[in-house]
Amino acid sequence: MAKKIMILAGSPRENGNTITLSNWVANAAQEAGAAVEIIRAAQLQVKERGCLACMGCQNSDKFGCVIKDEISAAINRIPDQDVLVLASPVYFMGFSAQIKCLIDRLYSLFKITKDGKGISHPLQHIEFALIATAAGAQEHGLNLMEENMAAICDFFGKGYRSLVVPHAPVQPGLIVSNTEILRQAQALGKELAG
Ligand SMILES: Cc1cc2nc3c(=O)[nH]c(=O)nc-3n(C[C@H](O)[C@H](O)[C@H](O)COP(=O)(O)O)c2cc1C
Repeated sequence: MAKKIMILAGSPRENGNTITLSNWVANAAQEAGAAVEIIRAAQLQVKERGCLACMGCQNSDKFGCVIKDEISAAINRIPDQDVLVLASPVYFMGFSAQIKCLIDRLYSLFKITKDGKGISHPLQHIEFALIATAAGAQEHGLNLMEENMAAICDFFGKGYRSLVVPHAPVQPGLIVSNTEILRQAQALGKELAG
């Protein structure tokens, strides 16, 4: 059966590096037979800017965020996916605020077990991946984003694949001439679809 891949793309820029790489990964995955959806975090209609810590998710038997907006609509469909990709530019040493709003609401996709010692979640089958670009070097934020991603995935008991590009061109559109990054993106898309 075709794998379902959701890419959450966190840059507000049209034609920027994040969306270019996301499209490259998506196209290669689709060619390999996967069903791919790219969700632009910056375009989602939000009711709240972030998690409200209302604990509506923890006080419910269901997994998912109880705020009724387009972030919840995306988050609540993650358990139906086979692959979740977080794609973001580095903004001040971390994920962009647009995608962080979604990441925080992943809180609604686990529950603390009754003994308080562990968690249960519906993401056991999911593979994770990170797509990240930065204007600076690895140590100017990509390193911290990788650590953040590793911690998120580790929390769910998972590893992740990554496509991380330091020194990415600042001007939108220029990255399209980088055939090495294109090759890496295509390889990642194919792997995720496999
Ligand atoms: C608000 C803002 C903060 C940024 N912070 C960093 C940073 O901390 N480290 C870095 O290397 N690049 C930083 N950058 C550069 C972007 O990460 C880089 O240009 C990225 O490739 C842009 O992706 P996009 O084209 O998808 O928007 C920043 C850019 C912006 C607009």
